[in-house]
Amino acid sequence: PAAVIVAIDGPSGTGKSSTSRAVATQLGLSYLDTGAQYRAITWWMLNNGIDVQDAMEVATAAAKPVIVSGTDPTGPTITVDGEDASGPIRTQEVTSKVSAVSAVPEVRTRITELQRTIAESAEKGIVVEGRDIGTTVLPDADIKIFLTASPEARAARRSGEVKGSDLAATKEALIKRDAADSGRKTSPLAKADDAVEVDTTELTLQQVIECVVTLVGEKQ
Ligand code: C5P
Repeated sequence: PAAVIVAIDGPSGTGKSSTSRAVATQLGLSYLDTGAQYRAITWWMLNNGIDVQDAMEVATAAAKPVIVSGTDPTGPTITVDGEDASGPIRTQEVTSKVSAVSAVPEVRTRITELQRTIAESAEKGIVVEGRDIGTTVLPDADIKIFLTASPEARAARRSGEVKGSDLAATKEALIKRDAADSGRKTSPLAKADDAVEVDTTELTLQQVIECVVTLVGEKQ
């Protein structure tokens, strides 16, 4: 069978990464975390003295960093100019700045090209997770899933991941980031018309994984 392409989009805290990785592992597919790429370019900008609130400065620098993503779902990797970035891209500083950087059209064009190249070269197929995969990056994906959950459930999941974090502050930061990602002009966070929406609020991770694996199976 031809390589299957699965697009999984949705806001933060819906279980996108855990679901995507597990589905890719179970089905023997590659995996791409596109949020990690936007985090990586943001990390590079912060390290190189770019004012991330200055869209012109960000646009001019967008082509400079060399970003390489590994696609093994059991151990995804990402390097920037040859340096391992998988730890530093998860800091609060990067998390709070990434929406400003990812809203810049030159950044999106650059990263979208990388994503398409990776998806095209995945011989056995790939699960790609993000915000605009089904709408913009891979509009011809075989299966499109849009994960949602209540803000309370999403904040609780995120809080559980970050030790010692405050639930109310996490919820506020998360709502702010989603509003920025949904409100930007260039390929905002959105559900594609032909995506299947799965509300994960009342589901366990295992149930979400099973649901997506079933949907992929129906299409193959
Ligand atoms: O998924 P994650 O929380 O790592 O994504 C980090 C940020 O990267 C998002 O808040 C969003 O600003 C940006 N992003 C994006 N388009 C994608 C994936 C992520 O703009 N396809």
